[in-house]
Amino acid sequence: MIKIEKDVSLRAYNTFGIEAKARYFCTIRSEDQLIELIDTPEFKNEAHLILGGGSNILFTKDYEGLVIKVNLRGIEITDQTTDTISVNVKSGEVWHEFVMHCVDKQWGGIENLSLIPGTIGAAPIQNIGAYGVELKDVVQRVTGIDLDSGLSQTFTNAECNFGYRESIFKHALKEKIFISSVTLTLTTNNHKLNTSYGAITSVLEEKKISPSIKTISDAVISIRRSKLPDPMTIGNAGSFFKNPTIRLDHFNELKKIHPTIPGYPSENQYVKVPAGWLIEQCNWKGKRFNDVGVHAHQALVLVNYGNGSGEEIFQLAKNISSSVHSTFNIDLTPEVNIL
Ligand code: EPU
Repeated sequence: MIKIEKDVSLRAYNTFGIEAKARYFCTIRSEDQLIELIDTPEFKNEAHLILGGGSNILFTKDYEGLVIKVNLRGIEITDQTTDTISVNVKSGEVWHEFVMHCVDKQWGGIENLSLIPGTIGAAPIQNIGAYGVELKDVVQRVTGIDLDSGLSQTFTNAECNFGYRESIFKHALKEKIFISSVTLTLTTNNHKLNTSYGAITSVLEEKKISPSIKTISDAVISIRRSKLPDPMTIGNAGSFFKNPTIRLDHFNELKKIHPTIPGYPSENQYVKVPAGWLIEQCNWKGKRFNDVGVHAHQALVLVNYGNGSGEEIFQLAKNISSSVHSTFNIDLTPEVNIL
């Protein structure tokens, strides 16, 4: 029998450490339990929210519906060729623990994604990415259960419609599919190591070590630890905003007034600008207001020092957006899911 609890605190289930309550809450450990759940009155009559590691979510109020905490576990090799291995990973596995498993086994492809918080099941939803690699580079397929029909469904990489922090699961299929596992294709030989991100090369050169799955993973971990607050110590959800893409002519205009503005060419006539730079220029970096603030080492990360509320963080985010808008005429879009 599946257990549905009432009025459960979500504080331990979101990395911002925000206090909010779920009217109903249940933990799902198998596909069968999910099938059972979708037949319950709570599921049928209430709104629902599927929760992985809670590392990309901001609760601004209590959730007046059913929170479904994903806890399916298991890692299984499904195929192997001379150079590759296919691994099916259940959605409740912790992303970073799986990355460490792959580094240990010398399976290549996701070492640049070390230390990203969250679960396997949440990873395809926003196509997690860091240091030159995105999840879409290694996804073979995503398997889920259609919450209307209870039927199993499989999505190929192309069917996931991956983009920068985007996928079909964030749009057309939002809250419609319960992701039960993700199958990744990783390398066992002829690894395609990615050291394109300057900071990785700097760490490797400084330590005089050559790139390998393990040394890249170690470098990424040390870069992340130096810039990003550990959610176990200071509540946060990584980058709060996406890096905006602006038109080249807009960028060139801004460059006349702000000659140091960084920009990376995106698709034709567009330039991607680091939101962290924009926020820092507007003097937000390191600012603290009661128990919420902007991280001192990475202006793109908003933090909860302890007892901040979701509403306060949301208000801070709105103030940051409006100052970036009035200074640069650029609109910031949150990367974090705001509820
Ligand atoms: N910058 C500043 N001030 C800051 C922060 C950044 O000027 O306070 C500028 C610098 O020019 C720096 C550039 O922004 O060179 C890029 O900064 P960083 O390498 O820290 O990366 P980011 O663009 O701020 C993105 C991802 C991160 C990911 C890193 C590394 C987004 C929204 N964020 O951040 O992802 O770890 O690149 O690849 O794309 C996340 O999504 O939660 C996340 C942490």
